[in-house]
Amino acid sequence: MKNKIIAGNWKMNKTIAETKQLIGQLIPLVADTNNTVIICVPYTNLATAVELTKGTNIHVGAQNCHWKESGAYTGEIAPSMLVELGVEYVVLGHSERRTYFGETDNTVLLRTKAALSAGLKPIVCIGETLEERNNGQMEQVLSRQVKEGFKDVTVEELANVIVAYEPVWAIGTGVTATDEQANDAIAFVRSVFQEMYGKQAADQLYIQYGGSMNDKNAQGLLSMSHIDGGLIGGASLVAEKFAQVVKAHK
Ligand code: 13P
Repeated sequence: MKNKIIAGNWKMNKTIAETKQLIGQLIPLVADTNNTVIICVPYTNLATAVELTKGTNIHVGAQNCHWKESGAYTGEIAPSMLVELGVEYVVLGHSERRTYFGETDNTVLLRTKAALSAGLKPIVCIGETLEERNNGQMEQVLSRQVKEGFKDVTVEELANVIVAYEPVWAIGTGVTATDEQANDAIAFVRSVFQEMYGKQAADQLYIQYGGSMNDKNAQGLLSMSHIDGGLIGGASLVAEKFAQVVKAHK
């Protein structure tokens, strides 16, 4: 049996002072879980988060990285810079980055390869919009995102990747996919990985659900056979709520 991997995506929230407070509250609340706990915080809070979580079971992630090692890329952060800080994970290809910042399957692939080369574990996000789902294009979109976004990722590298299925229509809307909708979509995503990498790699791959997941619906979602964890936005900003998601599945 796989344990679950629960990651909080804080997005553009929390000052350093607030980060200290939230992590201080979270540490005792999640100390006894067998699940993996990750918090993905803004760049400005990474050093604080790494320092405060030393010796705890909480891992720290960033929310993006560039694919080049260094150079004239104003505003970007290289994977090695995150590694130097003690960061272990990085969210890549989040739908907000695809929608607002021009991220494509190809740039997600470049970032994923660079993150893996640097020793980071990427949490790669995919997911369809409501329009795509309503037009019957869900499978086509997910299939394209996986096939293009993982084109050059080797089977050895895939072992260090987490995938997050986040239907865009469920992000920040309060509308969660039903347990079955989420499980069915993730089963489909896993079948695409199986086509590309074989059954063993696809079975071992961790695929999370994300989109309005919270302390109320986590237990149902995490009990589904294909759902290996969650990527939590809003509910990860409140220690008690995030801790309940972490502990929803024993
Ligand atoms: P919400 O949990 O706020 O819907 O956000 C989900 C998400 O985008 C996590 O990456």
